[in-house]
Amino acid sequence: MKTGDMQAKVFFLPELLQPGDMDGQIAVVIDVLRATTTINFALVSGADSVRPCLEVEQARELAQQLRETALGNKGVLLGGERAGVPIAGFDLGNSPQLYMPDTVSGKTIVFTTTNGTKAMQACQSAERVLIGAFVNLVGLILELKKVDLPLAIVCAGTNGEVTREDVLMAGALLHELSKERQVNLGNDQAILALDAWRSLGERGECRERLGEELQQTQGGRNLMQLGLQDDIQLSALRDRFRIVPELDTADWSIRLN
Ligand code: MLT
Repeated sequence: MKTGDMQAKVFFLPELLQPGDMDGQIAVVIDVLRATTTINFALVSGADSVRPCLEVEQARELAQQLRETALGNKGVLLGGERAGVPIAGFDLGNSPQLYMPDTVSGKTIVFTTTNGTKAMQACQSAERVLIGAFVNLVGLILELKKVDLPLAIVCAGTNGEVTREDVLMAGALLHELSKERQVNLGNDQAILALDAWRSLGERGECRERLGEELQQTQGGRNLMQLGLQDDIQLSALRDRFRIVPELDTADWSIRLN
């Protein structure tokens, strides 16, 4: 049986948000290739938390501060990318495959990426902020079924450009959620995202074909150029994790809720 109505809007880029758009909303931030996928891998692999930072220098400073606490040197890892490649002096890049239990379990990950962490920042006035990717689509649906707040899905895009991988994920989320409850699409971006996803038909339902589809996107092409095809395949493992990473906007850390 479907639960109550939910109002849902999509923003293809954080830059498209107007002041007040996030107030009273439950936000889902999406950067499929790769920030929000990688955060899922980190937390499912037992990382204690992920601390998103906008700038590289800010990340270095936060890591240094945290290393001076009881966490110590070994308890903190620096991760992320610029132009898709690992940052000099950082422990980890932005490939989900690097965030495995033997590396990240019990660790605090200080994390900065080009677009994903900016999209999180844009959601700071939301009531709640969830982290979404194909890998935790099922977890998001289980959570959003129960929520009594309007939904705002925020796509990260790439350097101010709308990216198909994020729009497809926004559409997949609306499509799956509409099986559980009455979803009222609150703006044209929501309608466009749902149309984009539904136009894939069974290609979107099937994991192997979703991987092929993600190669035909801006983020996919960027990763292919860098020889990071495996990251695309990992990002296409839809419904792999029944988890919901949530950004605590008071202490600016992401944990499993
Ligand atoms: C980003 O935040 O811009 C992306 O995650 C980029 C990437 O993965 O290389």
